[in-house]
Formats: sequence, C-alpha cells, structure tokens
Amino acid sequence: MGRILACRIDEVPNGKMKHLQIDGNDVLLANIEGTYYAISDICNHAGANLHEGKLNGNNIICPWHKAVWDVTTGELVQFPVRLRSLKVYKVSVDGDAVYIEV
Ligand code: FES
Repeated sequence: MGRILACRIDEVPNGKMKHLQIDGNDVLLANIEGTYYAISDICNHAGANLHEGKLNGNNIICPWHKAVWDVTTGELVQFPVRLRSLKVYKVSVDGDAVYIEV
C-alpha cells in the first residue's frame, strides 16, 4: 500500500477526467465539482476504456455499449444486465497535487 502522485490539480479541471497507469492498472481520475474520484478505467462489460466515454455529472457513459457508471462509487447505474462494480481507489489532495492510494 502506498500513495502515488497522480497529477497536479490543474491538470483535471471540474467536469474533466484523466487516464492514468498506476501499478500496471488503468485508472480513471475525475473531478466532480472540485472533488477527485478514481475508479478502474476498464468497463466490466467488455473492457472498453471508460476515459474515452462521456462524463455527465457523476456518471460516465461507456463509449462501447453505453453502460452508465457512477464515478463516485464505481457502481453500475444503468445497463440491461447486472455488472460487477468497478474498483474504486482512494484519492487525496495535498497542496496542488492529487494522490491515489494503491
Ligand atoms: S464495454 Fe462498456 S458497456 Fe460494453
């Protein structure tokens, strides 16, 4: 377990997201109203990269088959079949730096 520097806060403005490679994992970092959230970037349906989708409030819409995920919880919001929740990473901000716990 450790804290990994993800980016500076100004690299991910409100309503934006960023793809990161952390410890060999694809991670999506999103800024929702000034709070940062990090979840797995890989859709649990068929493996799309979620950062290529559309962020709409708390929700990220998968670019392939339009599953809707809650970025703040990693939970599935909308899709015809149930999918396992996405891994959620703990995020912290220290000064102008954003860290992800792994
Ligand atoms: S890969 Fe995301 S909905 Fe199919």
